[in-house]
Amino acid sequence: MASSPDLHSFAEPHRVRSRHVELALTLDFAAKVARGYVVHHLDRHDDTAPLVLDSDGLDVRSACDQNGKPLAIELASLPDPIRGRRLAVRLRPDTASVRVDYATSPDAEAMQWLEPAQTDGGKAPFLFTQGQAILTRSWIPLQDSPAVRVTWNARIRAPQGLVPVMSAMTRTESGDEVAFDMPKAVPPYLIALACGDLAARPLSPRCAVWAEPSMLDLAASELADTETMVTSCESLFGPYRWGRYDVLVLPPSFPFGGMENPCLTFATPTILAGDRSLVSLIAHELAHSWSGNLVTNATWRDFWLNEGFTVYLEQRIMERVFGRDRAAMETSLGMQELADELKTLPESDQRLHIDLAGRNPDDGMTGVPYQKGAAFLRRLEQAFGRERVDAFLRGWFDAHAFQSVTTATFRAWLQRELLDRDPAAAAAIDVTAWIEGTGLPADAPQAASSLFAAVDDQLAAWRGGAKATALSTDGWVTQQWLRFLLGLGATDAARLAELDSAFAFTRSGNSEILCAWLQLAIQYGYAAADRRLELFLMTVGRRKFLKPLYEALLAQPGGKARAQTIYQKARPRYHAVSQRTLDAMVGVPAR
Ligand code: BES
Ligand code: ZN
Repeated sequence: MASSPDLHSFAEPHRVRSRHVELALTLDFAAKVARGYVVHHLDRHDDTAPLVLDSDGLDVRSACDQNGKPLAIELASLPDPIRGRRLAVRLRPDTASVRVDYATSPDAEAMQWLEPAQTDGGKAPFLFTQGQAILTRSWIPLQDSPAVRVTWNARIRAPQGLVPVMSAMTRTESGDEVAFDMPKAVPPYLIALACGDLAARPLSPRCAVWAEPSMLDLAASELADTETMVTSCESLFGPYRWGRYDVLVLPPSFPFGGMENPCLTFATPTILAGDRSLVSLIAHELAHSWSGNLVTNATWRDFWLNEGFTVYLEQRIMERVFGRDRAAMETSLGMQELADELKTLPESDQRLHIDLAGRNPDDGMTGVPYQKGAAFLRRLEQAFGRERVDAFLRGWFDAHAFQSVTTATFRAWLQRELLDRDPAAAAAIDVTAWIEGTGLPADAPQAASSLFAAVDDQLAAWRGGAKATALSTDGWVTQQWLRFLLGLGATDAARLAELDSAFAFTRSGNSEILCAWLQLAIQYGYAAADRRLELFLMTVGRRKFLKPLYEALLAQPGGKARAQTIYQKARPRYHAVSQRTLDAMVGVPAR
């Protein structure tokens, strides 16, 4: 078990560790709070030490032991700006478990309580939680470190007609409660809850999609390849160990594309393009069932072990299910994004093994752990061959299943299981440069795609003055259109209007294409897209889209006032995660 200290948690698991969590909560949508208790079942290594928990914004009422005897609690009066409040519970010699009674705050960062108007049905309110990276402590007082894995169960009471779902292996309705059980040890950031007007539609015996009833048809047809993805990943990297794999399609304010909550991926509705062109996101969240959920980063410094491996697995799944061309294009788009981002990132943020001392783990969520991490594994594949790297990865998952691991653990494993077995191939790779160095090493594999070469030809024609209607774009798929929009280069509003009348980008139902287009529209003052832009910013809360759009607005002359006007209206609809990012960019609107 990893023993490296986690800078982002107050917990002292080497002294007293929570091993099993029992949760009982009642959801109050009117007050936007959850009330109830959590019980921690303890492993005590130091008889005199207290149980130290993380908490943030919680109203902690009391604590007692397994016999109901009160225990003294000490809640830090001053919150740490990153970690929140340390909560210590004094233990008696015979204390085996601790129950903490508490309520959440209406502005708990992990929870977004939506008004009915923010849902597709428009009639029922909605709640979802988002734990990663260190937000679970704002809805459950616990040892919120990815190195402290727990088994857990929960009983959730919700108002009549609202359906609670969780990231658990089993779900049982009993009376006015729903009970959940997760018998495998998971890191706390993977405990998740959603509740709203939800229904499920089976996709296969072990896969289903959950969504608002009005979205079910669309969601089920878009995600029809889910079972094939699971089967593919199993054949590459070993059995799927979590029972069911379901996907929950959330309302559009969800701040991420997807979140790999075990057994129940949470996904943005912006992947429902109608033609399955954005389902690599499902491949990604599914892949976390191996890289991340089974083998977990022990600290947020090691985040690349979660995300870099997952992007690599995602690409392998996409190749198997949709073919090499599609996978190659997606890999290439990812590398193009990374190259652009590297130009703006300080050197210290360009390292896979990032230093997060004094920083929020969210700061490490750049393209580096994702794309550079995946490029490193592709480099290993190039040097050692696919067969050996696949066996190596499968062995990594098997040997570390249900454990939390550091970068050092990975390096030792890499040395022993791959490098030492073929010193000649290993000599070509500077592992330290890849993991600790800045930028992209010169030996990073090139991502080439013949389908992009065709796009690049048309881009050259366009830049040379060809009319939009004269471009050969027949049969282009989403990834080609993205390549086109990203490569457009300097242009003006009149030429954008010409493209728009030829290709109807402003009316695109594909969120990725639309977002790329709207950035251009802002940058070159193409006002015909303004209404679409404002509608998008008022409904979609996905940070990956909001950030570049607000950035583009801010970069325009007079754009700051415009950005602020829109943000003032839209901010209450965004999740705390997106608000935090945009507050820093746009400024907190005066109330
Ligand atoms: N686990 C991440 C989301 C995350 C990371 C949330 C860090 C909070 C902190 C998830 O698997 C992810 O990477 N989502 C991406 C999509 C993916 C296809 C790259 C996203 O949301 O954009
Ligand atoms: Zn991920």
